[in-house]
Amino acid sequence: MCGIVGYTGEKQALNILIDGLKKLEYRGYDSAGITVVNENLQNLKAKGKVKQLSDLSSQNPLTGNVGLGHTRWATHGVPNDINSHPHLSNDGKIALVHNGIIENYSELKEKLQSKGYIFHSETDTEVGVNLIDYYYKETKDTFKAIRKTINDIHGHFAFGVIFQEDKDAIYATRLQNPLVIGLGKGENFIASDFTPTISYTKDFYLLEEGEIAKVTKEKVFVLDEKDIEKQVVKYTVDWDIEAAEKGGYEHFMLKEIHEQPKAVLDTIKDNLNEQFLAEEVIKNANKIHIVACGSALHAGLVAKPIIEKLAKISTETYYASEFRYTNPLINKGDICIVISQSGETADTLAALRHAKKEGAIILSIVNVLGSTIDRESENTVYTKAGPEIAVATTKAYSAQLSLLYLIACRLGEVKQGLDKKELLEEIKSLPSKIEELLKSKDDILEYAKSFNYAKNLFIIGRGLDFAAAMEASLKLKELSYIHSEAYAAGELKHGTISLIEQGTPVLAIATQATAEKTISNLLETVSRGASPLIFTNKELNLDIDIKTFKLPTTNDMFMPSLTAIPLQFFSYYSAYIRDCDIDMPRNLAKSVTVE
Ligand code: AGP
Repeated sequence: MCGIVGYTGEKQALNILIDGLKKLEYRGYDSAGITVVNENLQNLKAKGKVKQLSDLSSQNPLTGNVGLGHTRWATHGVPNDINSHPHLSNDGKIALVHNGIIENYSELKEKLQSKGYIFHSETDTEVGVNLIDYYYKETKDTFKAIRKTINDIHGHFAFGVIFQEDKDAIYATRLQNPLVIGLGKGENFIASDFTPTISYTKDFYLLEEGEIAKVTKEKVFVLDEKDIEKQVVKYTVDWDIEAAEKGGYEHFMLKEIHEQPKAVLDTIKDNLNEQFLAEEVIKNANKIHIVACGSALHAGLVAKPIIEKLAKISTETYYASEFRYTNPLINKGDICIVISQSGETADTLAALRHAKKEGAIILSIVNVLGSTIDRESENTVYTKAGPEIAVATTKAYSAQLSLLYLIACRLGEVKQGLDKKELLEEIKSLPSKIEELLKSKDDILEYAKSFNYAKNLFIIGRGLDFAAAMEASLKLKELSYIHSEAYAAGELKHGTISLIEQGTPVLAIATQATAEKTISNLLETVSRGASPLIFTNKELNLDIDIKTFKLPTTNDMFMPSLTAIPLQFFSYYSAYIRDCDIDMPRNLAKSVTVE
């Protein structure tokens, strides 16, 4: 996902922009660039890391107090200098940075080419900046030029725009993709999220869909989607820059693994007495749909059987990217639980909109207050994990699990008269048990070393253990690039066991009532040459010696919260040994704002 930062104020823009882009690196990118306003628009951009851009700018320091910066996660056009943003209009008098996709860019490009525009890059963004230029020449009005442009565009975007003829201002507009305005003293900012500017100000305006903002150092002027002036309401962030920095850990991921006790504790405390939905809504609901992507969906896979067990209500889980294309059977009054750490995932947002259109009652779980999913949900509850910077989620996933347990208890209470006291006590014990597990990292490092030869690896389990295995497998793949597969333990013998060779690592998660059966399935692989490792809280009667990681115990339903910790360390250390880019794995973005 691309990153945008902009500055207008008394200071030199260059270092503020470079520093801001460094704070956006976690979003994943392949090139970066900046524009600083002086007599004209000075543009500097390069493929590769922000460090390359910073080195380039130290040889060629751009002076000026207004500017835009961008980190690009390529959608149209390969990562190279020319395709990097900011893109300039043909006459070099307008600069544009863009996060999103212009789906009809070919048609718009042809229209502009017929009017004499030429294009140097393969990007949709260069079409956007020249379309703004075309309408600016037609209207001589910056707002009208932007409005006409976004009316022509099909797709989704966050734009930062500078006009040389209005050189003290940055313009900002968005549709589905995030953009915030940092409100400083004698200076103002625009950014894709709070992190690039939180060290300058904690006060922000959250730009709404279709709004256009003109940002100068003294003032922020906003037109709503009907071009009527909008009052700028200030939102103050409740965390500080330390929360968004490594705090002495080698990687953000390691820091965030260690922040899990607090993330889970804060999430539980904040939601312990939460009703989540009106009692009538719960009473009238006949089905629950859980929709999300990646790890957020894996949290949903854990929640499904727990909700069905406690509330006796049919619960379905869906990949958000498939949801609206599979014609899900949604009846008015169904509950749709939408889970997203960033609150900006395009597939999840699209699924939310579809469910809402079909009459479902939305309950969203997000970690970023003010995110697009938050703002489009009639009911939102928040994980209190704090800013999560590492691309591979850990603390947000654990916080999502704890929140989903509370929701399941509430549903059970209304639907089945569940007395949830005991379960709540068990949920409240999770932070201390997670804390205990953090001490196990050296054992896990040894396990990771012992399997470092692996090209392929299986993680097996049954029921909730299989759901936990899905998350563990994703972590391992996205961090260490080892091809791993989560497999329903009982299914292996129906074909996939043919892949087991001498030394194939098979990790078994055995924490449920079916633990002994899972171990039997594991032994079937061992007899065919597999190298086993067990994660369990049970007393197993093994007649052969197998490496076993002993987990603390809690209610079986909540064991995925404990299983996650050693398997996060396993992925972290597997990646560490292989010298992978742990906080920014290749090809990945922290929030996928494209379909
Ligand atoms: C998690 O480690 C992954 N980086 C990814 O699967 C992520 O969970 C998924 O993209 C959903 O993101 P969201 O929670 O911000 O919607």
